[in-house]
Amino acid sequence: MSSTNDDESSPIWMATVSAPTNIACIKYWGKKDAKWNTPTNDSVSVTLDQKDLRAVTTAAASIKFEKDRLWLNGEEEVGASDSKRFRACVDGVKALAADPSKWKDLKIHVSSYNTFPTAAGLASSAAGYAALVAALAELMSAKETYQGQLTTIARQGSGSACRSLYGGFVAWKAGSAEVSTEGGTPWADSMAVQIADENHWPELRAVIMVVSDEKKDTSSTAGMSTSVATSTLLQHRIAKVVPERMASIEKAFLEKDFESFGELTMKDSNQFHSVCADTYPPIFYMNDVSRTIVRIVHAYNKWAGETRVAYTYDAGPNAVLYTLEKYVVEVGALMAHYFPSPATATTAAAADGYFNDSTFANDVTAFTLNSELLAATNKTGRVPNAGDVKKIYHTKSGPGPQVLSNEKDGNLDLKTGLNTYINTPK
Ligand code: DP6
Repeated sequence: MSSTNDDESSPIWMATVSAPTNIACIKYWGKKDAKWNTPTNDSVSVTLDQKDLRAVTTAAASIKFEKDRLWLNGEEEVGASDSKRFRACVDGVKALAADPSKWKDLKIHVSSYNTFPTAAGLASSAAGYAALVAALAELMSAKETYQGQLTTIARQGSGSACRSLYGGFVAWKAGSAEVSTEGGTPWADSMAVQIADENHWPELRAVIMVVSDEKKDTSSTAGMSTSVATSTLLQHRIAKVVPERMASIEKAFLEKDFESFGELTMKDSNQFHSVCADTYPPIFYMNDVSRTIVRIVHAYNKWAGETRVAYTYDAGPNAVLYTLEKYVVEVGALMAHYFPSPATATTAAAADGYFNDSTFANDVTAFTLNSELLAATNKTGRVPNAGDVKKIYHTKSGPGPQVLSNEKDGNLDLKTGLNTYINTPK
């Protein structure tokens, strides 16, 4: 790698990558070992396409940097570079650098932005920490000593981030404290494993209903800790429910069995939110709009006589709907009917940016919903109301992190290593 500043006495080394979000079908909720950020149970997720939802991170190292610095969405996060999560990622990757002595004493600058709401239950920390680890690994030409080692580092940034280092359908195996690396790091097998890549099930689609783009009020970390301390349902889930569901959903995904995949996904989302309700004091992430989407999904599947769409909710009110290509326009039209664009107060206007994807917006607008379907979904009591949903994303599964160009896509100045990203609200 050549330096970006042509300064032989104090070169700047730089790398830029993008990383995807992932949305779990079997949820991670609960930490076994908070120090190493390992989970109480296995989990599995779909990695989403980076076209619309991604974190873009530039990492740089230079002898001329006085301290580690981090900018997030254009703002410097003072002190964040001392955080346990950030340190675990930087120091973890430094230890795997091709030439560790070159990087040992160099300070790091990082600038990262998300193309979607941060901390609103859209897996922004997953994309962010996956991008951080991937950018550092690219910068320092890090080499894993075993497959999946980088995911054990990303896991220490944010648990769900380990799954964003691979595309497709990715499990996070809980692992055990007894398995350690040569260097003595425990939990070496608490890592992500790719079950199938993004080309395995090309018909799979995701429709994301952004119900709120505001920061959630109970962080996942805080919520999990209270759930582990107080929820007996969580203990039952860990011991009895998740092991069976993991096996069944892997089989369903590999066999492209949407009926089973969808049902397991919905049941697991429901159980995760039931664990939140069983936590003392209880935690509520879903709201009335979220629950209305659940009702409409069930009414639609019942009308269809099969599972055509499945919802899942993370630690926030936004719905992620998994469906298949052949139903995705119908699903989009149904959702746009009940949740019209706030800008136009009409169904699915293509031009106003309500949809991320204008072709999809046009297809949805041109689609005529079956009147019997509407009669069935009207029984949920939902009356169309503009503004309840802020934006609808249409996407599919995609690959893991991608290396980008520092010149064209980077967020740090090539000569100074200072942030260049300016946040322009969309
Ligand atoms: C509900 O990965 O954000 O999205 O490890 O504390 O950073 P930390 O938690 P985080 O939790 C994600 C929880 C979830 C479920 C999931 O993604 O599996």
